[in-house]
Amino acid sequence: MRKKIVAGNWKMNNTLDEGLKLTSEIVNMISDEVRGDVEVVLAPPFIHLTQVNKLISGVDKIHLGAQNCNDNIQGAYTGEVSANMLASVGVEYVIIGHSERREYFKESHKQLAKKVDLALENNLTPIFCCGEPLEVRENGLFEEYVCNQIGDSLFHLHDDKFSKIVIAYEPIWAIGTGKTASSDQAQEMHATIREFIAERYGGQVSENMSILYGGSCKPDNAKELFACKDVDGGLIGGASLKSRDFTDIVKSF
Ligand code: G3P
Repeated sequence: MRKKIVAGNWKMNNTLDEGLKLTSEIVNMISDEVRGDVEVVLAPPFIHLTQVNKLISGVDKIHLGAQNCNDNIQGAYTGEVSANMLASVGVEYVIIGHSERREYFKESHKQLAKKVDLALENNLTPIFCCGEPLEVRENGLFEEYVCNQIGDSLFHLHDDKFSKIVIAYEPIWAIGTGKTASSDQAQEMHATIREFIAERYGGQVSENMSILYGGSCKPDNAKELFACKDVDGGLIGGASLKSRDFTDIVKSF
């Protein structure tokens, strides 16, 4: 069964106190205002994880996420955090392959494949990010580009492992720009991703996979985006830092 998911990627924002205040506001708003089967994920920076987990523990609908994990399970990797460390503090979801990490940290398909393997081995659900830069959108090669990202990093997995993954399509030209993809653009790419997955893993795996949209998703466009047949929720950046906006996006289903 496809899950409806709205995940908040805080990126590198919020001191500990700011993060706990934001979490408390979101917990109160979601508890009071949200019904139905949508799953909410909060993905704060690593420093917040233990205490955010305590604040959300009483709310079944809200789950803890992380923004990355290393492609090794332990050792001399100064500054890094591993999948099993994340699992040990209650993390359930981990964002892997965000375009900002691919750009700034030059994450390769091989590295991302290893991160996905380690996340799955530690019972974390990868939210695997894909998405094309503006020049690829403009030259029309965006479907091939995105499908290659998915195939190169994920198609080594057997059905049972692959079916645990959540895909997040985030066109790079829409991230942080206010230039949201239209619902037609989002639906077109999500349908292409779902067809690509079906060709490799069959219709049942593909139909049950959650494919999220990310890239300037806001309260005023979330309803139209989430109404698309193949859009199963959102991966939210800027708007996840405002409790009212984030909750309104969750309520958009
Ligand atoms: O991971 C979600 C993020 O990349 C989208 O950012 O600020 O455009 O919602 P934003």
